[in-house]
Amino acid sequence: MEFEFILVNPTFAQHVALIQLNRPKELNALNLQLMLELKQALAHLDDQDEVRCIIITGNQQAFAAGADIKQMESRTPIDLLKIDQFETWDQIRKTKKPIIAAVSGFALGGGCELAMTCDMIIASETAKFGQPEIKIGIMPGAGGTQRLTRAIGKANAMELVLTGKFIGAEEAKSLGLINRVVPEELYLDEALKLAKEIAQMSPIAVRLAKESVNKAFESGLQEGLYFERKNFYMTFASEDQKEGMSAFVEKRKAEFKGK
Ligand code: CAA
Repeated sequence: MEFEFILVNPTFAQHVALIQLNRPKELNALNLQLMLELKQALAHLDDQDEVRCIIITGNQQAFAAGADIKQMESRTPIDLLKIDQFETWDQIRKTKKPIIAAVSGFALGGGCELAMTCDMIIASETAKFGQPEIKIGIMPGAGGTQRLTRAIGKANAMELVLTGKFIGAEEAKSLGLINRVVPEELYLDEALKLAKEIAQMSPIAVRLAKESVNKAFESGLQEGLYFERKNFYMTFASEDQKEGMSAFVEKRKAEFKGK
């Protein structure tokens, strides 16, 4: 898959694909084309049975420093409405395979929102998270006020969104925004380790479990519990459930086929 602003490696490791945001001079600022490419790449990888987990990363200096301010500067509200740029972002949320953000350096504005739209975040100790839109006279528009608030609570989210201040990886970890902080040279390895671990599980169970955890963000408890129960029952329609349980009883390692 050839793109201008992202690099895609569908066979980065067994069952693991890698997408690298690749506008290094602009600190991976997310212009419209980059996001369109990301949408296309994710939709394609989601359709490949061989791919069971996806990592999105940037480079050491920046995961992404936000939406492209230069591209947005002269837009009118009607331009924004017509372009509807955040529609392309919906693909990230719709992707059925788990997505891990491997973050080093700046994850700001749309970059922080992109990381939060992924399912898990592994960060280098140099990572900096923030929603600095307020400093340029706007506010988050790709889910920042909603996902950040759910992840770190109202008081913390309010402070970040209203002051635009950055927080480091350790603070992001202590607030519950991210999964792990590791030394800079290890953030991609650590993301890969996590991806490989998930890729060994039944892809069907992983998909249904991911959907169910996400449901907790989007529904009340009763509806979420009902959804979870149905997905739990559904796992019993898979060969992987038979394989997983037989392997347990026979004291051997399960080999899941995604069937
Ligand atoms: N859009 C466009 N270009 C950007 C950019 C962005 N979000 N962030 C950085 N760049 C560009 C800079 O303009 C600069 O380009 P030039 O060399 O051509 O001048 C290059 O990347 C390097 O940046 P700096 O020289 O500024 O690097 P620095 O190390 O001094 O500062 C930084 C780094 C603190 C991240 C600073 O670049 C910065 O504050 N960037 C903007 C962060 C921001 O406000 N993000 C939110 C954007 S709006 C948004 O995301 C809306 C939404 O909800 C989706």
